[in-house]
Amino acid sequence: MARKRLFTGLQPSGTLHIGNYFGALKLFLDLYEDYESFLCAVDYHALTTVRDPKLMHENTIDIVRDYLAVGVDPRKAVIFKQSDVSEHTELSWIFNAIIPMSLLELGHAYKDTAGKGKEATVGLFTYPTLMAADIVLYDTDVVPVGEDQRQHIEYAREIAHKFNTTFGETFKEPKEMIQKDVAVVPGTDGRKMSKSYGNTIPLFATKDEITKAVMAIITDSGGESPSNVYNIHLLFKSREELAPVYTANKGNYKASKEALIADIEAFVAPIRERRANISDETVIRVLKEGSEKARELASAKMKDVRQKIGVSFND
Ligand code: TYM
Repeated sequence: MARKRLFTGLQPSGTLHIGNYFGALKLFLDLYEDYESFLCAVDYHALTTVRDPKLMHENTIDIVRDYLAVGVDPRKAVIFKQSDVSEHTELSWIFNAIIPMSLLELGHAYKDTAGKGKEATVGLFTYPTLMAADIVLYDTDVVPVGEDQRQHIEYAREIAHKFNTTFGETFKEPKEMIQKDVAVVPGTDGRKMSKSYGNTIPLFATKDEITKAVMAIITDSGGESPSNVYNIHLLFKSREELAPVYTANKGNYKASKEALIADIEAFVAPIRERRANISDETVIRVLKEGSEKARELASAKMKDVRQKIGVSFND
């Protein structure tokens, strides 16, 4: 029996943080060998915020280096970047042509930006159709993500369904996989960890950067143990392991923070070391091989799509 398909993507829009890792990447890592798996650097999504070509280039190389450093084996997963497979943008246009504006007007990312009175680009507005294309092009069954992507996966299902009912059965309707205890990883201020809130702990930080980020955790819990520190600590150690630490450090927030710094450092150090030994050439080779595999599947799917919608004359 054919293996089920797993797909996830992360934007190369800055350095990955531990929210990205525990919310999505680790979930992918835990599952990917049991599926036919795809891991994408979604650079066209990142274009909605990254406008410096040098940075786009560096971020994309870096995110793929991160994928390899955390342990994704490129022989066991298709690792590629979105812009290398133009079928993604082609399909998103087709989706744009068949879904109502009203669906996208309810999108969280668009609503948040527009609600703050900021200018929203067309790309931010249609972000969910490109994401739906990413996923359904590969007949994906399961999409491991954090809670903030739940709506996008629901949209992918809805859009696939709309296409299927309009033009005939073509796409699988994917399911999100969200792990409850890491669905929303908290940042240093207790809100969701997010680049846009400036409350992140970078995944590949140096010891000094980790120390700086942890020391900046807001500790106005008023109780005996600092909940913002504890909740982040839970990503690295179990409640049982943490109990004696927090009992011994009651009221001493600095000591709890120092214990957290030591645990993050112990976790990050070996990955950081692996990462330092992954060259740009290796990343570029992995992307080239991954894109070839992805393109093969995507182009076969798009051939079917073009026939279904009636634009294909010669195949
Ligand atoms: P992005 O790049 O913002 O985030 C990448 C992944 O990290 C998860 N995440 C979190 N999880 C838990 N707690 C947090 N604080 C936290 N912050 C981020 C996100 O949920 C995500 O899973 N639209 C997507 C990228 C995308 C995609 C796709 C994902 C494009 N196409 C197809 C899956 C499938 C995004 O902006 O993720």
